[in-house]
Amino acid sequence: ATRSRIIGCGAYLPKRVVSNVELAQRVDTSDEWIRQRTGIQERRIAAPGEKTSDLATAAARTAIERAGIDVAQLDLIVVATATPDETFPATATTVQARLGMDHGAAFDLQAVCTGFVYALAVADNFLRLGQARTALVIGAETFSRILDWEDRTTCVLFGDGAGAVVLQAQETDGFRPSGVLSTHLYSDGRHHDALYVDGGPSSTQSTGHLRMEGREVFRHAVVRMSEAVDAALSANQLSANDVDWLVPHQANMRIIEATGKRLNLSPERVVTTVDRHANTSAASIPLALFEAVEDGRIQEGDLVLLEGMGGGFTWGSALIRW
Ligand code: ACO
Repeated sequence: ATRSRIIGCGAYLPKRVVSNVELAQRVDTSDEWIRQRTGIQERRIAAPGEKTSDLATAAARTAIERAGIDVAQLDLIVVATATPDETFPATATTVQARLGMDHGAAFDLQAVCTGFVYALAVADNFLRLGQARTALVIGAETFSRILDWEDRTTCVLFGDGAGAVVLQAQETDGFRPSGVLSTHLYSDGRHHDALYVDGGPSSTQSTGHLRMEGREVFRHAVVRMSEAVDAALSANQLSANDVDWLVPHQANMRIIEATGKRLNLSPERVVTTVDRHANTSAASIPLALFEAVEDGRIQEGDLVLLEGMGGGFTWGSALIRW
């Protein structure tokens, strides 16, 4: 059977580090409050003029290099982002041009914090159907641009960054298949008001700010993500014991710990970056994946489980045999 495999990972973080202490000089908060409630210690913030496409392109270059392929081999680019450079064209076509690629197809996909899981699922389906052979899947965000920096309940939670993977179609062994084993996507649009940006081209003709009912999001997060995880495992007749690495969306340490506990995974098996990156939305999973691949934690043959949840609500999972 044809399956898609991740053959290279990349990441990029803006240079500027903003600590909790620095934020406490702007809004009425404290390092202690932020650490206790979220596990976040610092985040990266894009420089003035540094755009989502800049972050995405940098992450993509590393992923392409690690994959050992040439840009000419790519025939699909999917960028998951809720913070595109412009209303249109897609940030993906900007990245395409920056990479010097003038063939194939490039488009953006919007599922907020679940964006990377959605983009991976879409690219995986293209590859399995033979509509593309080698895809670049990117999660890239500059949430600092849509935060209300006077609202302490939201501005402390997010950061900027990008992560990317190169996905390639390969024939795999039917007995012990490797690559993307399955993806599961969900949404429930009734929860709009729990997490949204109050504006946009068709409503206010301007970009607004992120608004969130934190408690409401928290209440749903663990339940929804566990649902997506259960679906991934049962579809592959695997159990939580088989999982080598959980790479969850990095929103909040308490949500991550609760999900890990529910799977009965020891904390060392859960990849976390939220302490240093905060919540980078669609970028958080590929950023975490990059770290765990680069430092040698994730090895060939490992079973890697990705899961996330975001505005909409949207949520989903992907199970990968590395
Ligand atoms: N610093 C100090 N105090 C604060 C801050 C802050 N940054 N933010 C809120 N507070 C105050 C509140 O005003 C409130 O004060 P009050 O009791 O006097 O009214 C108090 O702290 C408690 O506020 P809660 O919102 O009840 O705090 P909670 O324990 O729920 O933690 C948090 C808030 C961290 C946002 C939590 O609800 C959470 O993690 N929710 C999940 C949200 C999330 O991760 N969203 C990410 C986007 S969605 C996604 O990626 C899945």
